Amino acid sequence: MVRVLVPASTANLGPGFDCVSLSLALHNEVTLEAGGEGLEIIVRGAGAASIPRDERNLVYRAVHLVLTHLGFSADGLTINVSCGIPPARGLGSSAAAIIGGMLAADQLCGQKLTRRQLLELAVQIEPHPDNLAPALLGGFTVAVRTSAGVECIRLEPPLDLRVAAAVPRYELRTDDARAVLPVTVTHADAVYNVGRAALLVAGMAAGDSSLLKTAMKDRLHHPYRAQLVPGLMDVFQAATNAGALGVSLSGAGPTIVALCRGSADTVAESMCRAFERNSIDADPLVLEVDRSGAILLEETG
Ligand code: HSE
Repeated sequence: MVRVLVPASTANLGPGFDCVSLSLALHNEVTLEAGGEGLEIIVRGAGAASIPRDERNLVYRAVHLVLTHLGFSADGLTINVSCGIPPARGLGSSAAAIIGGMLAADQLCGQKLTRRQLLELAVQIEPHPDNLAPALLGGFTVAVRTSAGVECIRLEPPLDLRVAAAVPRYELRTDDARAVLPVTVTHADAVYNVGRAALLVAGMAAGDSSLLKTAMKDRLHHPYRAQLVPGLMDVFQAATNAGALGVSLSGAGPTIVALCRGSADTVAESMCRAFERNSIDADPLVLEVDRSGAILLEETG
C-alpha cells in the first residue's frame, strides 16, 4: 500500500499563460493498493459525487499508464482518493489526480522513474504541463512543452508570499474556457505579455515582490474569459484596493487568486463581496504556497 499527498496549483499566473504556476497548500490524498480482484475506486471529499469510479477516473488512468510503462500488471487495484481540491475551479484538481496516481504507482513499483520522467509521462494524459509541474514539484514553476517533451524549472517563491482566493460555487471546464480564446492575438498584446512574464519570473527569482503589480497583468486570456467569470474586473479591482500585490484568473477559472503579503484574509473577503455584487456566490480561501510538491506519506507491504 502506498499513500501520497499532492498539492493544488494556480496556473496561468499573471501573464504566464499555459506556463507559469504556483503550488498551493490545499491537497488531495491518494492511496493505492495492489493485489485485490478487479478495480475498486473510492472517492471522498470536495466534488466527489461528480468524479467517475471506473476506467475514466484520472487517478486510475495515471496509475495504469505508469504500471504498463514499467511492465507491471494493472489488474487488481484499489484506489482511494480524498479530495481537498474542488474540481473544475481552476485549482489544478485534474493535475493533482494525475500526479497522485503516477507517483503512487511508481512508488508501488519500487520508485523507478525520475520526477522529469513522471512529468513527461503525465503530458500523455494532460497536454498542458502548467498544473502538472507545480503539483509534482511545489513552489513556483515554469513549464513548457517542446517537440522533445517538457522543459521545466522550479523557483522558491518569497517566504512571506500568501495566496488569497475567491472560489465561485460553479464549475468551469477547461475546454469551454479554451473555446472562447482567439486563434490569433496582436503583436502589441504578445509584447505586453512577454515583458510582464519576464518581470514576473525575474522578480520571483530575485525575491522581489515590488514588481508584482505590473508583472501580474495579462492580455492573452483575461479579456476573453471575463465573459465566463461575471465580475472578473470588479474582483480584480477589489483585490487591489484591499492591498493585493497582484491578481490573476486561476488556471482556466473561475477562481481568482491574489498574491499577498500581510492582508490575505481581507483580500479574499473583498474579492468574494465583489463576486456577490455580480450575483456570484464565492468562498474565500487563504493559502500558503506549497513548497514540497507531491510527497510519499506512507508505504507498507
Ligand atoms: N493553461 C490552461 C488554460 C489551464 O488556461 O486553458 C491549465 O492547464
